[in-house]
Amino acid sequence: MSDNKKYQTEVDFKQIFSTPSRWMGLVYLVVLVSIIIAGKYYVQHQDYISDNDTKFINSINVERQNDVVEQKGQLQEGIDVSELGNNPSPELIATGKELFQANCVSCHGENGKGDGPAGGGLNPPPRNFHAEDGWTNGRSFADMYKTLEEGIVANGMNSYNQLTVKERFGLIHYVRTFADFPEVSEDELSNLDLTYSLADGRTTKNQISLEKATKLVAKDKTTNFKNVKANFSQSSDVAIVTNNTIDVDRALYSLNNSNDWKTDMSKFKKLILSDLPQNGFNTKVVNLTDEEWSQLHSKLVGLYSVN
Ligand code: HEC
Repeated sequence: MSDNKKYQTEVDFKQIFSTPSRWMGLVYLVVLVSIIIAGKYYVQHQDYISDNDTKFINSINVERQNDVVEQKGQLQEGIDVSELGNNPSPELIATGKELFQANCVSCHGENGKGDGPAGGGLNPPPRNFHAEDGWTNGRSFADMYKTLEEGIVANGMNSYNQLTVKERFGLIHYVRTFADFPEVSEDELSNLDLTYSLADGRTTKNQISLEKATKLVAKDKTTNFKNVKANFSQSSDVAIVTNNTIDVDRALYSLNNSNDWKTDMSKFKKLILSDLPQNGFNTKVVNLTDEEWSQLHSKLVGLYSVN
């Protein structure tokens, strides 16, 4: 440091720090820059996971504590529908209770009030068995059997047809202990038998654990997304996509979870416009003409269809 003058800066910091108003200006600048950096960090590190995915994963994490055992389908004997429907033994109800606690409490709650921890994110919420109104399939014995056989999958109520018919009868009888339910009639039992051939015996389905199933689904989704991205990078004339997105990956991913947008223009628009720019599309898509919308649509359908 032989020549101090050489290193003298043009900004006189001493003067800045001794003048409070200038000092505040500097603080303002620092705060502004920090906010911008933090914002950019936040946007870049957000996972491509939608709200629904998170709810789904949370509900599975709770449920996984009681995950089903992996097993091959097996032949089961037919049952006496009328006997098991009308005169459940205490053992059958006890089996139902055990199964309920292992499989259903996470959503329907210990006392069947629909208040289990995994049900929080579901809409409609898990059925409260004490309430008489609002049932989707209904609260008769046969209706509940239908629910357990087929599930109400779109609403988060799974099918339990991996359980034997007898086990499901036990479950229904146990659910019926929570409140007053309509009498079981001979008619509904014989209809049930006709619909599902319960007296004949059947083969149960193979069953894999929820954990494995979740992984398979996730893997499937990821593979699909990778293929779409590969298509994109090999595809020419992608300007219609790049011009209308702020983040191509995110935009492609936001379309990865559903299929109906491929055949339905209004669903396509709704999907994109509902969550701008969170889903990676540029806000200027709102100004696209019908023709540009259909160009964008057919390009994206193309990227998604070569899987
Ligand atoms: C992941 C959460 C979840 C689990 C676990 C679950 N349910 Fe449900 N269940 C639901 C939801 C959500 C509904 C409401 C569906 C609707 O209203 O359409 C429902 C509805 C029902 C209904 C009423 C259907 C109707 O007609 O409205 C019955 C009966 C039922 N569940 C029984 C069971 C039994 C028995 C088990 C365990 C073997 C079980 N559920 C496990 C979420 C769950």
